[in-house]
Amino acid sequence: MTSATQVADLFTGEFGAPPDGVWSAPGRVNLIGEHTDYTGGLAMPFAINQRAWIAARPRTDGIVRAVAHGRGAASASLHEVSRGRPAGWLGYLAGAAWVVEGANGGGWDLALASDVPIGGGLSSSASITCAALLAMDDLSSSGHGRQELAGLAQRVEHEVIGIPCGIMDQTASLRCTRDHLLALDTRTLDVVQVPWRAEGLALLVTDTRAPHVLADGQYADRRRQCEEATVTLGIPQLRDATLAMIEEAGPLLTADQAACVRHVVSENGRVIAARTLLEQGRTDEIGPLLTASHASLRDDFRVTVPQLDVAAKAALDAGALGARMTGGGFGGSTLTLVRGEDLDAVRTAIDSAFADHGFGAPAHFVTSPADGAARNA
Ligand code: GLA
Repeated sequence: MTSATQVADLFTGEFGAPPDGVWSAPGRVNLIGEHTDYTGGLAMPFAINQRAWIAARPRTDGIVRAVAHGRGAASASLHEVSRGRPAGWLGYLAGAAWVVEGANGGGWDLALASDVPIGGGLSSSASITCAALLAMDDLSSSGHGRQELAGLAQRVEHEVIGIPCGIMDQTASLRCTRDHLLALDTRTLDVVQVPWRAEGLALLVTDTRAPHVLADGQYADRRRQCEEATVTLGIPQLRDATLAMIEEAGPLLTADQAACVRHVVSENGRVIAARTLLEQGRTDEIGPLLTASHASLRDDFRVTVPQLDVAAKAALDAGALGARMTGGGFGGSTLTLVRGEDLDAVRTAIDSAFADHGFGAPAHFVTSPADGAARNA
């Protein structure tokens, strides 16, 4: 269920009249620059074809009524919205209305459908919030800019869902453009559209379907370690750290904090290096940077799980140019850069490695940079 017509029909079936419009926002894959976006650092995500679709019409009684494809209908008053409430998918929709209109707003009728894999580390939640916010912004003629909407979507995560995420996912969903990577500086929120030139190459996403164990608590923990290290080092943001500072700080940083800093510093360096290669048309040379990013996320930032490590290693062993986890980690997906002729072998190698390890079968798709959020009807 992934088109403007289908989500409009879902709306009409539930609410008895057509919506005022349909909007959609994509999930994302991050090429490189992971766990840098809450430290003022650099990232390079792109939009994927899978999207969340929202059909919308305003109300006047302060209620958000919503129907989600495959999940039934639910409603909440804007006065009820608070941290953790309403729970589940309705939290993203009611949360979006609440950050835009406040507790005394008019409310909305909404239909939601999405084909972004849930729990795949591909921004299924940010895509829902961004599509809803774009719809509400358009219909209320609020005129927020795209980056302002990304900030509102981040507030939904922080204040309603309770996840202290960075700004990458929301910015990617709202500002990515087809055939480009989004070079994002999370300190200035400046973006540059970097053309994706990859003739003969393929980007394979593998959703490991590993359960997200302790994901939220661990994410918040890594973020806290970064913040503590920033204070200890006496710098404005971890973006400003250098490897020499870790040496100088010595025992003032715990071993875990030092490892987090090492990841952030080295990862920002890899984003710059990857961007330079991409701008020179040397896309086939970025593989080692992707692979090094994975190692850093595994060994220093400690956010991989065995399924992510096995998928990345199997891909490389089968001839991939580079492979890494993408997204927050603790489960989710890997991204593999592979020559077209090696694609089947890599996919098969990951499947057999999963079978050998007794993991459930992963889900693969080949992707390339797709359109950002838009009004569709
Ligand atoms: C999640 C968060 C993002 C970012 C990534 C890791 O996707 O929502 O803000 O921190 O993890 O790069």
